[in-house]
Amino acid sequence: MKFLVTGVAGFIGFHVAERLLNAGHQVVGIDNLNDYYDVKLKLARLDLLKPYSAFTFIRLDLADREGIATLFCEGGFERVIHLGAQAGVRYSLDNPLVYADANLIGHLNILEGCRHNKIGHLLYASSSSVYGLNRKLPFSTDDSVDHPVSLYAATKKANELMSHTYSHLYGIPTTGLRFFTVYGPWGRPDMALFKFTRAMIAGEPIDVYNNGQMRRDFTYIDDIAEAIVRLQDVIPQPDANWTVEEGSPATSSAPYQIYNIGNSHPVTLMDYIAALEKALGITANKNMLPMQPGDVLDTSADTTALYNAIRFRPQTRVDEGIARFVNWYRSFYQV
Ligand SMILES: NC(=O)c1ccc[n+]([C@@H]2O[C@H](COP(=O)([O-])OP(=O)(O)OC[C@H]3O[C@@H](n4cnc5c(N)ncnc54)[C@H](O)[C@@H]3O)[C@@H](O)[C@H]2O)c1
Repeated sequence: MKFLVTGVAGFIGFHVAERLLNAGHQVVGIDNLNDYYDVKLKLARLDLLKPYSAFTFIRLDLADREGIATLFCEGGFERVIHLGAQAGVRYSLDNPLVYADANLIGHLNILEGCRHNKIGHLLYASSSSVYGLNRKLPFSTDDSVDHPVSLYAATKKANELMSHTYSHLYGIPTTGLRFFTVYGPWGRPDMALFKFTRAMIAGEPIDVYNNGQMRRDFTYIDDIAEAIVRLQDVIPQPDANWTVEEGSPATSSAPYQIYNIGNSHPVTLMDYIAALEKALGITANKNMLPMQPGDVLDTSADTTALYNAIRFRPQTRVDEGIARFVNWYRSFYQV
């Protein structure tokens, strides 16, 4: 099949594209290659995809309305996996407008492309951050998510609402994927594991927020990619019996579905750091800091719906995943 993958030079987009290509699919990947983090890392990921004859890369901004419309018109895509976005909770405190362009206008341009080109299935990245002030754990897609605590989270919730509207109005099957703190080889330099590893190897202190008293459902990248590749074949169906009063917010009378993709085994930040110390053979010098605005205390995914749909749920243990990340980091940066 022919796929459009957005954010293809990004952490998750790269892994998903590689899997699709290895499975024999055709992939057109777009990315604007912005410098939110080291562009060399994005280019190095693309270098691994370019040798596939079934891969085409186009440098394009999601907010470029005409560019995206032309891409869809000429592309002949059967499925779209939309992973391009401005990510990061903390960056959204200081740079809110970037999120409006990439995540709101960008998402709308993708929806319009799907609407006018009869796309068979749109899968798009949402985030565990939509659970915001929710306290009931584990987080379930049956819970309401109306109280985000960062603009980033609000744009992800907005993406789910916009997608529902397009599923309802135009019958486009859409699947929203709430990822829980993804980590692993080729990961993001703005995320904790990458920052800690760099600092610890350099002999610098690491910043530990909320004195390490946070729990995260860290999810290994291969598990995320596996779930996405399985889900692209699970096309949401409209449920005529669904009602707002009795149905789950994760489904609808429209062909619309939301899943959590998380490990369901949250670990404390201190245990995560301990696993990294072990993998690196270095004890971290910890700079204990208060909670950051926009952060949440705990995340934990209820993956019952995901498992029922694809008979798979993430389960890589953090010590295994961190060891694989450290191996990749040492070899990529020659340290
Ligand atoms: N990594 C995580 O832990 C995590 C958790 C929850 C949700 N997500 C979501 O998953 C998706 C992928 O995240 P990731 O970790 O791979 O991030 P990433 O930043 O590595 O990848 C996103 C890619 O999108 C590109 N991009 C950004 N703005 C763009 C624009 N306006 N036009 C074109 N391309 C643009 C970037 O250059 C980047 O290569 C994002 O939607 C993110 O919000 C990620």
